[in-house]
Amino acid sequence: MSKEKLVIFDTTLRDGEQSPGASMTKDEKIRIARQLEKMKVDVIEAGFAIASPGDFEAVKAVADVIEASTVCSLARAIEADIQRAGDALKNAKSARIHTFIATSPIHMKYKLKMEPDQVVEQAVHAVKFARQFTDNVEFSLEDASRTEFDFMCRITEAVINAGAGTVNFPDTVGYGEPGQFGETIGRMIENVPNSDKAIMSVHCHNDLGLAVANSLSAVLHGARQVECTINGLGERAGNASLEEVVMAVRTRKDVFPVETDIDTSHIVPTSRLVSNITGFAVQPNKAIVGANAFAHEAGIHQDGVLKHRETYEIMQAEDVGWNANKLVLGKHSGRAAFVARLEALGISFETKEELTAAFARFKELADKKHEIFDEDLQALVSDVATAEVEKYRLDTLEVVSKTGSVPRAELVLRVDDDTRTVASVGSGPVDAAFKAVEEVAESGADLQLYSVNAITSGTDSQGEVTVRLEKDGRIVNGSGADTDIVVASVKAYLNALNIMASQQYKPHPQKDGV
Ligand code: KIV
Ligand code: ZN
Repeated sequence: MSKEKLVIFDTTLRDGEQSPGASMTKDEKIRIARQLEKMKVDVIEAGFAIASPGDFEAVKAVADVIEASTVCSLARAIEADIQRAGDALKNAKSARIHTFIATSPIHMKYKLKMEPDQVVEQAVHAVKFARQFTDNVEFSLEDASRTEFDFMCRITEAVINAGAGTVNFPDTVGYGEPGQFGETIGRMIENVPNSDKAIMSVHCHNDLGLAVANSLSAVLHGARQVECTINGLGERAGNASLEEVVMAVRTRKDVFPVETDIDTSHIVPTSRLVSNITGFAVQPNKAIVGANAFAHEAGIHQDGVLKHRETYEIMQAEDVGWNANKLVLGKHSGRAAFVARLEALGISFETKEELTAAFARFKELADKKHEIFDEDLQALVSDVATAEVEKYRLDTLEVVSKTGSVPRAELVLRVDDDTRTVASVGSGPVDAAFKAVEEVAESGADLQLYSVNAITSGTDSQGEVTVRLEKDGRIVNGSGADTDIVVASVKAYLNALNIMASQQYKPHPQKDGV
């Protein structure tokens, strides 16, 4: 059976960022975008350029560096939005403007307060206006799954005539049911006379846990682009997960008449990177990228897999980038081996100083932990790369934690060019250490999330800590890794403060009323 191409449109950096607390800095977006490019994602939606100056800068920065994937910005069907998107994408090798307006009766009446005729007129005008910046224009019918069928067909025909090359049908509120949603897409394709002039796309939310099922059903009925996110990140319950869509299509070649260009071996590293940057842990039983996704516990299963792998496995772990904690480097490895291994992992540094800092941390780690795995290297590199400014640095940390006594932490911190010694008590050593840091930083930020993960197995594993701080509606995620989890915690806290201090953060798009 000859296969048609399924376009993979990743919106981790836009809809994914709309998960409360998943705000990303410009540098973090660039790192994720590079990883998506390596994975051969077709379209990277980098943000919503008009949402804030920070969002504009992030879209622009991604457009400036990405070469192989198309870079896209979201824009309401308003000239000012489209202009801003066009400006942000000016340097992109391949740019797409994604403009949208709501089309369901409930949205048109209560949110837009517009008549259907006005909505069609505005949609057509938006597409024509966007075409002045790029030939690659996508139009979305927001809340398509609750839009009347005839109106859906009417507006689709009109925007294709106006120059939209992709028309997207979002299940904005996650209301769709796979049979009905897919069948509606198929019927719409049959009914719209010029439907063959555009790629039909779907964008499904996961409120009923059906986002992937709805997307795949639409593919079976003719959709040729799926919008999705790494780890299913996204507004509310999230979006369709990229890894699940891609692996379903690849594993069930007998069912799906399409293929993607995705290099699946980058899926797990990308999932880890997104989880690390956003602080959204991946549940162990998550399909494809969860820690248990390929772990066989039941004896009968283990026995079967040993005798013949396919008795219980439908995919190979290596195909999605699981590499079974490969031992890669040790205490005696030199800089060249370190650089070579990072290159193999697809990690590079902008400056020599960053590489030197990462290598110094590698040596420190190798002194404490003799076996250094790929996961250790990835965490170590995240530590180096997230803050532009290192206002706060940990010099030393001493904690006293003894049964029957109050935990106490004493820290020596570098603050710009100053050295400060500070001590505090708390309900545990981490609490005491954070209180001590706050005595110096006086950030007044609210700790919204504190999470610890073991990076590899074994008690000598590094703990990877994520700290989410909120101040005046602005949210930043800091991360830190160390074999000592109190040290990792302080590093994560300082990293969050450094990101705040370096002004890279930006308001959440929703908080800006966009
Ligand atoms: O869910 C949605 O409707 C969206 C659109 C803006 C594409 O994210
Ligand atoms: Zn969405």
